[in-house]
Amino acid sequence: MADRDTRVITPPEGVFTTGVRVPGDKSLSHRALLLAAMAEGESRITGLAPGADVATTLRAIRRFGVKATRERITGLRWMAPDDPIDCANSGTTMRLLAGAAAGSAFRTTLVGDESLMRRPMDRLAAPLGALGANIETSAGGVPPLVTHGGRLRGADVVVDLASAQVRTAFEFAAIQAEGASTIDGPEGFRDHTERWLETFGLGERVGDGKFRVDPGPIPATEYEIPADPSSAAYLWAAAAIIDGSQVATPGVSLNPGRLGFLSILERMGAEVQAEITGAIHGDPVGVVSVTGVGLTATEVSGALAAAAIDELPIVAVLAAYAEGVTVVRDAAELRVKESDRIDSTVAMIRSLGGGAEPTADGFEVLGTGFLEGGIVAAAGDHRIAMSAGVAATGANGPVTIEGVSAAAVSWPTFFDTLEAVWSSRSTDRAG
Ligand code: S3P
Repeated sequence: MADRDTRVITPPEGVFTTGVRVPGDKSLSHRALLLAAMAEGESRITGLAPGADVATTLRAIRRFGVKATRERITGLRWMAPDDPIDCANSGTTMRLLAGAAAGSAFRTTLVGDESLMRRPMDRLAAPLGALGANIETSAGGVPPLVTHGGRLRGADVVVDLASAQVRTAFEFAAIQAEGASTIDGPEGFRDHTERWLETFGLGERVGDGKFRVDPGPIPATEYEIPADPSSAAYLWAAAAIIDGSQVATPGVSLNPGRLGFLSILERMGAEVQAEITGAIHGDPVGVVSVTGVGLTATEVSGALAAAAIDELPIVAVLAAYAEGVTVVRDAAELRVKESDRIDSTVAMIRSLGGGAEPTADGFEVLGTGFLEGGIVAAAGDHRIAMSAGVAATGANGPVTIEGVSAAAVSWPTFFDTLEAVWSSRSTDRAG
């Protein structure tokens, strides 16, 4: 029986060509809100991401006494929040906020929804602890996450995960410390925070994967949020599935840590054009155009897996439409995202009539060149819901998505945009 949180997607007919301005970048939106909240004075933001996760960060900074709307934030010295802060489904909110709050001499308790309460937060304990903050989690390293900070002192840390969230949490705390800090670790992460801090004179890249933070006042400034490449990726994939189709997306973040999916698209045979047209606070932005010309299987591992981590469910969809076996490895982090994305991705492909196998740190997809269609459970995960929509692009029959509202976490109007793209013949439209 169809309920209100189900959507039936009927595959398109024919090729499509269009240009789409996709919504603002989620990672950069969280960072702009938090940096503006820690600055002294008024910052302006344009193009903030529309989804529920960023609204969660906006609500969270208000709990510290910060006056904030989506466009205007008046930063100040944070005041103690009276109750635990609800980070809902947003791991980025919880981890980045823990770092920012670690500079304040009060306790902050962070909780979330059922999914977030299962996600690992103990990865913050060592780096923030090195600065002198006290970080507590529940048994098993999961929330509630309690930070108790205050007088932080600079420290040199090495992390073993290519996690932008862990690095950003450390850097947000380290800006508030006495003395410089460094963080060193594997590459592949999105270095948005480091590029912004560098242009603010608050740090410097000092080696591959190594960054020094120089504490100091954070400037109140203007943030122009570029379009989100992780959202654009769904539309690029749709174009890649149908030979001769093309989707162009202007104003997208082209941070190197976000380009993994474009490399994978190219390796799989799609025609990719990316041109840097500018930079915002040192972080490159540009236009990307993807044209479908047939797909072949590929292998994804190492730093490439890290730089495409949020797009790996879409890689599985493309792999089903390709010829040959696609292997994704070194992506064990997928197990601790909004769902266990190894299991939920494999289940999605199988539900649609494709062949996929989970592995400890990734998955394999047997490309047959087609998918039948079927019923996909979104598993409470926005990226699974949207990937299932993209899977419909070349399917032989309809795709029914159960729990489709999960997409609202990052792109509430995604399915309307996808259907508009499918029916477009060379017109520009907004996402
Ligand atoms: C993000 C970093 C990545 C990514 C997440 C957003 C960020 O997570 O998967 O969607 O904004 O810093 P990790 O830092 O856990 O790799």
